[in-house]
Amino acid sequence: MELSRRTFHALAGTAALGFALTGSGSPTSAGTARSVPTGPPPPVPRADGRRHEVGFDRYSLLVDGRRLVLWSGEMHPFRLPSPSLWRDVLEKMRAHGYNAVSVYVAWNYHSPAPGRYDFTGVRDLDLFLRMAAETGLYVILRPGPYINAEVDAGGFPGWLTATEGTARTSDPTYLRYVDEWLSAVNAIVAKRLFTRGTGTVLLYQIENEYDAHVGEPTGRAYMSYLYEKVRADGIDVPLFHNDKGRNGHWAPGSFATGGEKGRWLYGFDGYPEPDEVPPDWGRFGTGGAKGGATASPRTPGFVPEFGGGWFDPWGGSWFDGKGYAESRRARDAAYERRFYLTNLANGITLHNVYMTYGGTSWGWLPAPVVYTSYDYGAALDEARNATPKLATMHQIGQLLRHVPDLAKLNRGKAVQAADERIKVYHLANPDTGAHFYLLRNDSEETVTSTLPDAGIDVPVTVPARDAKLIAAGLRLGRRTLVHATVQPMLSLTAGRQDIAVFAGRRGDLAQVVLDCPDEPTPMRLDPEPAWAYNLGKLYVTAPLGVGELSRVRIESDGVDTPMLLLFADDATSVRLWPYETPSGQLLVYGPALLRSAVLRGSTVHLTGDTTALTGLEVWGPRGITHVTWNGRPVPTRISGSGSLLALRPLPGVARPALPALDGWRRRTENPEAEPGFDDSGWTVADKKTSFSTTPVPDGQPVLFADDYGFHYGDVWYRGEWTGEGGFESVSLAYSTGTQGLLMAWLDGEPLGTHRMPVPDKDRARQGTWTAKAAFALPEELRKRFREERGESGDRHVLSVLVRRMQHDMDGKALDTHKAARGLTAVTFEGASPEVTWRIQGTATSDPVRGPMNNGGLYGERAGWHLPEYDDGDWKEAALPRADRRQGVTWYRTDFRLDVDPGVDASVGLVLDDDPERAYRVQIFLNGWNMGQYINDVGPQHTFVLPNGILRTRGANTLALAVLSDGTTPAGPGAVRLTLLGAAAGGVPVTPV
Ligand code: GAL
Repeated sequence: MELSRRTFHALAGTAALGFALTGSGSPTSAGTARSVPTGPPPPVPRADGRRHEVGFDRYSLLVDGRRLVLWSGEMHPFRLPSPSLWRDVLEKMRAHGYNAVSVYVAWNYHSPAPGRYDFTGVRDLDLFLRMAAETGLYVILRPGPYINAEVDAGGFPGWLTATEGTARTSDPTYLRYVDEWLSAVNAIVAKRLFTRGTGTVLLYQIENEYDAHVGEPTGRAYMSYLYEKVRADGIDVPLFHNDKGRNGHWAPGSFATGGEKGRWLYGFDGYPEPDEVPPDWGRFGTGGAKGGATASPRTPGFVPEFGGGWFDPWGGSWFDGKGYAESRRARDAAYERRFYLTNLANGITLHNVYMTYGGTSWGWLPAPVVYTSYDYGAALDEARNATPKLATMHQIGQLLRHVPDLAKLNRGKAVQAADERIKVYHLANPDTGAHFYLLRNDSEETVTSTLPDAGIDVPVTVPARDAKLIAAGLRLGRRTLVHATVQPMLSLTAGRQDIAVFAGRRGDLAQVVLDCPDEPTPMRLDPEPAWAYNLGKLYVTAPLGVGELSRVRIESDGVDTPMLLLFADDATSVRLWPYETPSGQLLVYGPALLRSAVLRGSTVHLTGDTTALTGLEVWGPRGITHVTWNGRPVPTRISGSGSLLALRPLPGVARPALPALDGWRRRTENPEAEPGFDDSGWTVADKKTSFSTTPVPDGQPVLFADDYGFHYGDVWYRGEWTGEGGFESVSLAYSTGTQGLLMAWLDGEPLGTHRMPVPDKDRARQGTWTAKAAFALPEELRKRFREERGESGDRHVLSVLVRRMQHDMDGKALDTHKAARGLTAVTFEGASPEVTWRIQGTATSDPVRGPMNNGGLYGERAGWHLPEYDDGDWKEAALPRADRRQGVTWYRTDFRLDVDPGVDASVGLVLDDDPERAYRVQIFLNGWNMGQYINDVGPQHTFVLPNGILRTRGANTLALAVLSDGTTPAGPGAVRLTLLGAAAGGVPVTPV
């Protein structure tokens, strides 16, 4: 290699010298065909008032004839009960490179009763769809009717559990209710379709993981019915289903789709274990039914759900939830790179990461398999903070957006790495001549290898159990990349220069080779990079992560526009924000988040978040001379790399102080246990038949709570009889979700508490959570009854409280959501009293907080959880407590917050105590049920309190409903607020 003097100077004394001088001559150009120039990225979707065409071919979606790779993240509006914060999450997703958001819509969340549908307040689907459009995200809408999703009954409303007919079949009763639901949802969605220019809904899913009745008439009739119904409601975007297990179920042609061609996509999901070798599930896979996208060769590779984390079960049993830090550790940034890049290399061009923001299964929303937090170990945590996993998503998302060559890939000729521990996927775009090599290292050691088959004879490093995508022959602005040893992240034109960003792991050495017919004048703007020029090629090297961003500017190489090469490690890459404005593209570097950029005159107005003192740098269209940040002018100068560089750093955030929680007031309840309690207003439980899958015991009334309209939370029973009191024992059969319990009293005396045992794996999988609580009559009660014997007219009351937890999901279409909840049968030994049963659950469904906010505790029925409740006559109490009592005790306190309006503080509530203590707490913040803490089960101790429900400037009321077994002393122990995140910036929050 000949080095010019100028080049040699640039290299002297740098690590790159070794590369330049010992490299085996000139690396041959891998993608020798000169690529055609690429245009700007696809337009950002908006409700732009224009009609749009949404089609596809086997490579990708085609929106108005233009290829679109969908890089989507799942979030559930129902898991974030504060609409203002939807915008926060959507803006974060958009900024981090997602172009779509996928949402389930949960039927149960919107329907307290048959015929009643509520899309107001926290349930305002239209508002969510408008926000997504304003943010510039496409929407993948997934309203079920069945969704699974780790929500109660898999999304079926509680009332549906008490209806006739088998769900998820073509049963007419079920379909009548399905019609109600879909009509209600579709009336909203039809107004927000991208095809009409009134929203950004791009795709629509029917059913979810429907693998029962496949190929059977009822299954086909059901799916056809849903298809026709959705079309009849005016939904004209492509429809699809999410196949569980890559079986080819519901591929095009497998059921009636109205004879429409090209309007039905095949999609399948995947949740690989962290130790799995990423499978080839795409179009290029091994084929056959299990081959994933090969099941549908004419539609593009589509994963409507691909694991971005995993849900966590309750602790303390064989399934042993370990908390979400563990999910995030096991499925970390490298997991995402290995699996998602393998998906891309398999021709998957519609990709949705489930979850990207998991959120909170507040109230009685969680399915039995999960606890309150649905953080999921996702890239954005439950408190809306970015996690290190976001770097993967950001880099791939920006790449897909800015490098359109990735939208149409064929498999290239087989390529092997010199080190066979590296698996190589070679892909090529037939139109542009760009080549991509996915290098995956499934071994436990970092591997450095060349790729001689591809003409890449500089070493490329892939860390253990990681992957990287490198490119060759790729057009970057007006130049062509011969190849690079690190992943390209984006390429754009800002004003007078082309900018290309390469990103990778800290410590990796980026070696970038560009075609340069004339010897250029590179300019090193940071100390780390170096270069050499030889025979029409420029070799640039830069170690990643030594400084922050490393910059090299190339000009006078015969191209009229200079090019800026930027090198970033993961932490730096997530502070680089490309942004499109009507007047051109921008690249902003520095802050923790860029929410928006607006050009007015010669000023660019930026909004976003900072979490620490940070520089600000803006590359923008010509004529931009001034910058504002969150409304304030930022003095800048023009830097050597052509950016506007802030003269002073932007301030970080002052972490707001949180008050201690004291001034508690306390009140015990459960008067229902007392014989004299007036239950005349309760429902008499005297039904004889039920549509439940649980058999009604011979000779007994139906006691299942759902049959009496009580679908969520706790339920009370009072069985009353006169005469015979002298039984020896009573056996209470009951059925709950995971962690259910039952407590009983006879004539006001506690008989005991029974905790639902965790069944073995098989039974748990079948959703069989049933038990018998047998209570022997205590000696003193026996004595009392002996004395009373014969005296007719004696009245006895057996009071039973069942924490029935939630309904099972119905993953296999076996109506498992219809398994009874509550008492199922009661038998006495030693006597056979004639018992009249009454039942009481939730008093009324909360019209604001929704049907799943409350159960039937006395305090809930009396409004003790509500902020407006006057607790003036309650007793003062200090925490921690150690009371031994079977039953329910409430604690309330008020606290004020005074967070600066310019600060987005994310606050949580922490509960902690001696793990031996058998009690649990329902947490009500300003009346909203923020979840359930089980002290002796875990693993959750921190509960996110979403702003909007939490008033960050003003007064808040916290109410804790403590249910204690009576077998140990019970808390609450330590209860405190904690700051989970703070940023200067945020979104305006409207109180809910
Ligand atoms: C999928 C299902 C989702 C969710 C996920 C696990 O199979 O489609 O609804 O349950 O598993 O989080």
